[in-house]
Amino acid sequence: MKSCKLSWLLVAMLSMIVAVFTYKFTVGEVKPSDDGRLAVQLSKDERNALLLEMRTWLQNSQGMLAAVSAQDFATVANLAKSSGMAAEAETPGSLFRKIPVEMKKLGFDTRQKFDEIAIDAEKLKDSQHTIKQISTAMNNCVACHATYRFVDITSR
Ligand code: HEC
Repeated sequence: MKSCKLSWLLVAMLSMIVAVFTYKFTVGEVKPSDDGRLAVQLSKDERNALLLEMRTWLQNSQGMLAAVSAQDFATVANLAKSSGMAAEAETPGSLFRKIPVEMKKLGFDTRQKFDEIAIDAEKLKDSQHTIKQISTAMNNCVACHATYRFVDITSR
């Protein structure tokens, strides 16, 4: 009887630990920011890595629009691919638990949208369709920027 109680206690404790980890993973490391957004707490290197990814996204988006206006679908596909899931490998692993799950979803969804742009550009070669897809993907840029900031907490 005693050992039965003990194992229930153990189960309860383990469930609590799992719950705490799940919670931390879901919310990430964020604090309210004075501009009304949520500030993701990062190291200097993590922030720099993410901002570099962002600048690449912007550059590729501009490049895709320039290419589609010239009906150059091979370039559209290449640029879209380098904004897609394949580029996720460059993201530092330490960020995984710091970024809130909602933000991760938005980030992955953006990458998947770029992968779709690449596939459709090669297959359909339809500029109206590609432009529409770029515009839809860029709604994610707008949505995420409206909600989150990156702050460097190491150099304070
Ligand atoms: C999942 C969230 C998310 C998505 C999606 C996202 N961004 Fe960002 N981006 C951020 C955050 C957070 C910052 C930092 C903003 C701040 O701290 O004020 C940022 C910053 C930037 C910057 C500034 C870079 C610098 O060097 O300061 C650029 C440019 C940028 N994003 C472009 C884009 C473009 C283009 C897209 C869409 C193709 C995009 N972002 C999609 C979260 C996102």
